[in-house]
Amino acid sequence: MSAKHVELVEVGPRDGLQNEKISLDSALKVELVLKLIAAGAKKIEIGSFVSPTWVPQMADTSRVIKMVQDQLTGTGRSRKGVEFAALVPNRQGMNQALDLGLKEVAIFASATESFSKKNINCSIKESFDRFIPVMVLAKKNHVKVRAHLSVSFGCPYEGSVSEAKVVRLAKKLVGLGCYQVSIADTIGVANAGQVDSLFRKLKVAIPVAKLAGHFHNTRGQALANVFAAYKLGVKVFDSSFGGLGGCPYAPGASGNVATEDLVYMFDGLKVKTGYSIKELIEVSKWFENRTGRILPSMVSRAGLLMPKGIIE
Ligand code: HMG
Ligand code: MG
Repeated sequence: MSAKHVELVEVGPRDGLQNEKISLDSALKVELVLKLIAAGAKKIEIGSFVSPTWVPQMADTSRVIKMVQDQLTGTGRSRKGVEFAALVPNRQGMNQALDLGLKEVAIFASATESFSKKNINCSIKESFDRFIPVMVLAKKNHVKVRAHLSVSFGCPYEGSVSEAKVVRLAKKLVGLGCYQVSIADTIGVANAGQVDSLFRKLKVAIPVAKLAGHFHNTRGQALANVFAAYKLGVKVFDSSFGGLGGCPYAPGASGNVATEDLVYMFDGLKVKTGYSIKELIEVSKWFENRTGRILPSMVSRAGLLMPKGIIE
């Protein structure tokens, strides 16, 4: 049965900003995170502990997290109910997360060998070997671990991907101790039929409460893909304010499904997200003003229909 509330994981500060041509100022990132919290974000993927040579835009993740922590404490603003997570590919990244007292991290694996090699410079097997010390440290330090499984619907280097392989790898991630696996359409190639088919198979192997969807919107299908997964009982979706996003190692990947587009849909379905759509739109507009970047969200661009007309 479809849920009356969903959890949206705001990945804009990580998936969104990692792919920007220029690295943004840490202070701007902090302001963004605080604005997202004010708009209703409850879980935020705030950055990545990866090689700064590979992804320079995430090199200031530690600084951003410290600044956000200081701001939330300093202003007396409650961080109750707001959770932060960061990407961690190996033990080195995990140690950085632990140093900052993060209570959640996300490991990321690939459903194809080619994408694994391009993105994290190792085979799928080697990536799982690297996850083992991460999981040991997580358990010891009571840190929750989420997982992303990239190119689950198609790979820019290998084309179509076997559903059985995705199910096997997702199961393996759960077996490692990940509390949830986010099934990712990295290059936005999936359609609702494919999502329905894959998630039905995933649900046979993994409890649906442990599954999440991560849809990039390259072909304009992300919202339909979310809806298809939601109809099967999936309650957690990754999204990015304004529809920012993409992976530097996935050619053709464009933004994630926009948080405000998702909230617009779920508000209409009377499904709670915890967000204020008006405030979210303001966050995207603020970001556009501050960076000169035009964001792809359709809802932010078109505005809301209110009793007295459109509010843009
Ligand atoms: P490598 O070169 O094979 O690593 O990279 P290495 O172990 O040989 O180390 C090389 C250098 O990297 C050393 O530094 C290490 O210290 C450093 P040097 O001695 O040369 O100065 N290093 C690190 N630095 C900081 N943090 C670390 C770390 N580990 C090693 N954790 C590595 C392997 C995984 C590090 C590299 O390939 C990498 O950083 N890749 C990151 C790729 C990435 O972040 N991609 C985008 C995120 S994934 C994504 O967007 C998909 C997702 O959204 C879902 C979807 O849409 O599909 C999640
Ligand atoms: Mg992504």
